[in-house]
Amino acid sequence: METNHLRLNEQIATAMEMVANTAGFLWNKGWAERNGGNLSINLTMLVSQPFPPFTTSYETELSEAAPLLANNLLYITATGSRMREVARDPFARGCFIQFNDTGSNCTIVAPSGLLPSSELPTHILIQQFLKSQGNGYTSVLHTHPTELIALSHCRPFLNQKYLSDILLGMMPEARMFVPKGIGLVPYQKPGTVLLARATISALVNHDVVLWEKHGVLAVGTNVEECFDSIDILNKSAQIFLSARQAGYVADGLTGNQLNNTAPP
Ligand code: 13P
Ligand code: ZN
Repeated sequence: METNHLRLNEQIATAMEMVANTAGFLWNKGWAERNGGNLSINLTMLVSQPFPPFTTSYETELSEAAPLLANNLLYITATGSRMREVARDPFARGCFIQFNDTGSNCTIVAPSGLLPSSELPTHILIQQFLKSQGNGYTSVLHTHPTELIALSHCRPFLNQKYLSDILLGMMPEARMFVPKGIGLVPYQKPGTVLLARATISALVNHDVVLWEKHGVLAVGTNVEECFDSIDILNKSAQIFLSARQAGYVADGLTGNQLNNTAPP
C-alpha cells in the first residue's frame, strides 16, 4: 500500500499529526456527527523534495481542469469517514491526490475501498482559488458547528453584514482573530460545483463562510487555524443564543469598544 511510503515522509507525517488533532477537536465539539465534515491540505510546499509519482493508484479526469494545481499534492479525507476515525489515523481515512502537469487529470491513492470526500469538487476548486490568491493558505476545513447552523435557519441572520456584526460584537477575540467576519452561502446541494462556486465568491472577502442550513467552511495556513476561526465564531453564536435563552438580547460590544479592539 503506497500510503506506507507517504507515512515515512517526515513533513507529511507532521501535517497528518495536525489533521489527527484537529479531527479529534471536531469530534469532541460535537460538530462531526457520523461522517459530518471533511478537510483538505495542499502538501506541495510542505514536501521539500519533488514527490515521486504514485504507482499503486487510479487516475481520474477532472470535470473542470485545475491548472494552478498542476503537479500539486493534496490530502483529503475520504467520503464516509468519521472524524473520530480520522483522529486515530488520517492515513487510513484519507486520500492523497497528485495532479498531472496540466492540472486536467489526477492520480488518487486511497486505502482499499475508500474514495475522496463527496465535497471533492469544492475542495479542488477552493485549493485552486487559494493558489490564485498567493496568500500562503493551504488548508480547507468543512464542519457542522451546531450554533452557527442554527442561526442559518432564521431569515434575518441570512444577511452577511448583519450576522457578522452580531458575531464580532459578542467578544473582543472575535473581532481580533476573525476580523473579516463570516461570509454567507445560500443553500446549495452538497458536493456540487455550484456550492464550490458560491463558496469561492464568499471567500473573496472572508476566511470563514456559512453554508445555509448545512455547515461552515474555513480556509487558512493550516487546519488548526481553520478550526480556531470557526471555534471563535461558533462561541460568539453560543453567547448570542445563550442570552436569548435567558430571555434577553445581548448588547454586543459598542462601536467604541470594537474600535479599541484592533486585530493583533
Ligand atoms: P463526506 O463524508 O463525503 O466528506 O461528506 C461529509 C459532509 O459533511 C458533506 O457535506
Ligand atoms: Zn457537510
